[in-house]
Amino acid sequence: MPITCKAAVTWKANGGFSIETVEVAVPQKGEVRVRMTSTGVCHSDLHMMEGFDKGFPFPCILGHEGAGIIESVGEGVTSVKPGDIVVMVFEAFCGDCDFCKDPRTNMCKKQTRNQLQMDGTSRITCRGQPIHQMASISTFSEYTVTSECNVTKVNPKANPNNLAFAGCCIPTGYGAVMKAAKMPPGSTCAVWGLGGVGMCVLMGCRDSGASKIIGIDPNPNKFPAAKQFGATHFLNPREVTNVPEKLAEMTNGGVDFCFVSVGVTPAMEQAFMSSHPQWGKTVVIGLAEIGETMKAGIWELIYGRQLIGTYYGSYKAKLDIPQLVEKVVSGQIQLDKLISHRLPLARIADGFNMLHTGESLRTIIDYDVKA
Ligand SMILES: NC(=O)c1ccc[n+]([C@@H]2O[C@H](COP(=O)([O-])OP(=O)(O)OC[C@H]3O[C@@H](n4cnc5c(N)ncnc54)[C@H](O)[C@@H]3O)[C@@H](O)[C@H]2O)c1
Ligand SMILES: [Zn+2]
Ligand SMILES: [Zn+2]
Repeated sequence: MPITCKAAVTWKANGGFSIETVEVAVPQKGEVRVRMTSTGVCHSDLHMMEGFDKGFPFPCILGHEGAGIIESVGEGVTSVKPGDIVVMVFEAFCGDCDFCKDPRTNMCKKQTRNQLQMDGTSRITCRGQPIHQMASISTFSEYTVTSECNVTKVNPKANPNNLAFAGCCIPTGYGAVMKAAKMPPGSTCAVWGLGGVGMCVLMGCRDSGASKIIGIDPNPNKFPAAKQFGATHFLNPREVTNVPEKLAEMTNGGVDFCFVSVGVTPAMEQAFMSSHPQWGKTVVIGLAEIGETMKAGIWELIYGRQLIGTYYGSYKAKLDIPQLVEKVVSGQIQLDKLISHRLPLARIADGFNMLHTGESLRTIIDYDVKA
């Protein structure tokens, strides 16, 4: 039977979040229906709501960072069963396509790019109208339906009301260091943007045995938390006239690894110029408006700097997130400390306001907290 529940619907670009009653259809072949337990307030949702992607379809239920419990499964589903605790994954893993079989990418040819299910339709309607599902998962809904390729079963010892962050900021930030940069121990590193993703980058740097971890953010209120996650030094870019020069002084002539976990192009350019001229590597994580470009001087590249990007921490999420959840359960990845605010779905707009003003570190929407 279809399920009637609450969801936060975004009717148009910049349209905010409207709590609505929606109908969630039964899962079709290869699909699962999930009762969401938690979802995170990530800047990527805000970027999409604010129109970073002009082709992004509305109305849409946003949310791409979530965890829940399998409520029911469609025909042929084998990787999960009702009652399993799952993390939602915003890039599918079908295991069959050329991309899934290729270790050089974590993307899947079956992941839809039109915010619908693989058959080109949505499983959620509101006032009789089909609503797009962000990344096909739409975690800002009490129940959602998606492909089994977009969920991964994890250790049931993990608290599902906290687990949402294992769906985006943890793999994205930790993987940027572990998988994308492959940073050797003893490296110096700098992290631009100390939000939820940035804190997970710091943990990756710490766990890789970095010799110096410099946290960079114009909001100094982020520094105490950053220290807990491994930052050893701090820089407020508004307080120095030349950031690359300052960082060259702090590290032997340039930073070995620069990570940019903020969607600000000048910060990406600043990071590139702060990386060591002979071997520095810059890893871009933050998004920008589609079509936006960044400047990287040819001579600055020629002498040895490297510039790469990473999507989802370069992890094949369905395969790799269960192992990250083991690190959460053992306490190595301090997920609970990332939670600065816990809100019911009805207050999701407040969560995004606090993300926008920088008041929050990362807000979790806990579906078991009543408004
Ligand atoms: N590549 C991916 O797969 C992926 C996945 C998730 C998120 N993201 C992106 O990562 C970015 C960070 O997401 P988040 O949820 O942690 O955001 P957030 O808003 O919580 O954190 C951003 C931080 O950057 C700081 N900042 C602003 N301007 C800065 C500047 N010029 N220099 C340094 N710091 C600056 C802010 O004060 C804030 O603390 C976003 O752009 C998001 O879309 C990318
Ligand atoms: Zn995200
Ligand atoms: Zn695939």
